[in-house]
Amino acid sequence: MVTSVSWWEGAVVYQLIPRSYSDGDGDGIGDLKGLSGRLSYLRWLGVDAIWLTPIYPSPLQDGGYDITDFKNIHPELGDLAAFHRFLTSAHAQGIKVILDLVLNHTSHLHPWFQRARWAPKGSPERDVYVWSDDPNRYAEAPILFRNFETSNWEWDEVAGQYYLHRFLRHQPDLNYENPWVQEQMLGVVDFWLQKGVDGFRLDAVPFLFEAEESRCEGLEQTHDFLRKVRTFVDNSGKDVLLLAEAIQPVEEAAPYLAEDELHAAFNFELTAQLFAGVASGNSKNLGLCLNKAQEVAPGSCWALPLRNHDELWLGDGHLVPEEVIQSIRAGLHQGNGHWLNWGINRRLAPLLNGDPRANRLLHALIYSLPGMPCIYYGDELGMGDWPGLRDRDPNRTPMAWTPGRNGGFSTAPDPLLVLPPITAPGYDYRVVNVEVQKHLPGSLLNWHRRMLTCRRLLPALQAGGFEILDSGHPSVLVFVRYIKNMTVLVAANLSAAGASFHLDLSRWEGASTREVLWGCYYPEANEKWFVYLSSYGFNWWLIGEVEETK
Ligand code: NOJ
Repeated sequence: MVTSVSWWEGAVVYQLIPRSYSDGDGDGIGDLKGLSGRLSYLRWLGVDAIWLTPIYPSPLQDGGYDITDFKNIHPELGDLAAFHRFLTSAHAQGIKVILDLVLNHTSHLHPWFQRARWAPKGSPERDVYVWSDDPNRYAEAPILFRNFETSNWEWDEVAGQYYLHRFLRHQPDLNYENPWVQEQMLGVVDFWLQKGVDGFRLDAVPFLFEAEESRCEGLEQTHDFLRKVRTFVDNSGKDVLLLAEAIQPVEEAAPYLAEDELHAAFNFELTAQLFAGVASGNSKNLGLCLNKAQEVAPGSCWALPLRNHDELWLGDGHLVPEEVIQSIRAGLHQGNGHWLNWGINRRLAPLLNGDPRANRLLHALIYSLPGMPCIYYGDELGMGDWPGLRDRDPNRTPMAWTPGRNGGFSTAPDPLLVLPPITAPGYDYRVVNVEVQKHLPGSLLNWHRRMLTCRRLLPALQAGGFEILDSGHPSVLVFVRYIKNMTVLVAANLSAAGASFHLDLSRWEGASTREVLWGCYYPEANEKWFVYLSSYGFNWWLIGEVEETK
């Protein structure tokens, strides 16, 4: 029997912000033309897919997540023809393209909203959004953008009613009780499917429907609609990934993963536990989270990000102990560690105190744990951030390509740049950039490339089974990934101090053990196999030789 494998099995995703990636027309803003010119870099790096944050027309009050036309391209990024050229060249280079699909809300400048506020109360046009005469409706729904909003409702003078906005007041929530809304949004999916995209990252999925006496998150009707999206995509006959964004603990994100619902969901709890593990030097909660993720959604695909364009969520005080959060913040230079809405608003490198060993360790983990590793642009270089910028802009600054002007991002004069390139001490683009790191064999960039090459050669890391082994050491996480004819052993030391320990490898007694990255042989597997890992050290070993499949 031939079983078909979806393209995302074993895939590595690279997230980028098109406005900040590469400027192809010299106006200071990254665009599709510039991005098209960087596809060869992404292919060289070894990623399988790129996820673009929203590229649609928008007043950009929320980084493009406030959309005025779902079926078009923001003029600063190009047009539909430029998108076609970009997609064709991505596909020609073997790179899949995932778009952001913002279902929950539009911009307040979207024609639907403008029509709704002028239309009579109770009319079909008004009914496209969620209105109320009473701002205490859905009182149990928490405010998500705590730094910017004090209510989920905004009074509209023209409409003479309040409208619901779970995010900024510039982002009114669509009314999913209205079949017309559902039909329109499926039309949006269809539009981009016809253009040939390979997947969607579904923004803010928990919030589509509302109900009294609930937090208005993950309601049954929301799941019903997501199942409709899945059926729609399945009926198209295309192999298209549906990836959910739900910033929630594993148990609450897992219900989106179902055979008839979404294919994948971010595991943000794992992200929090990875940072907490490194900050505390303790691997226990990370191990518990990993086991839980496999239990609640067996065989499902978790997407594994370290950072993204939002703040780092550490779990509202329930997942990561307050003292660990404080120690992460205390390690950051400047201010109070930049707490915004629900987390810390900084990039990976500064969050790890600029230590490339910790960057390698955390990436080595996402490259070898079950799931889909997601790299945030610039983190492959250890790029820094600009903590003084507004909202989440500190970690959305231009990609550093060369030591030249504006880091090779754009030829425009400085004041026209979308955001300032990084010149902060230790992270200056004249030092931290693609060109320089490509030339240095020991650079972080070359390390990432090597790891991705090795990963590609090890199917056990891409789709194998997973089991945690007991290391007996509080700082160390050890696990195996396996398929029928290949077993890979992984050990990671989350502490800044070296760690030595013994592993019981008696079930592979007598098998050879070979370190993957450099091919060096270790002693044969036995009951008391000795391992030493340096500060933030990790290793991948092949246990036994890889048997040829007949
Ligand atoms: C999640 C996105 O990642 C974030 O950037 C955005 O502000 C909200 N959803 C609202 O769309």
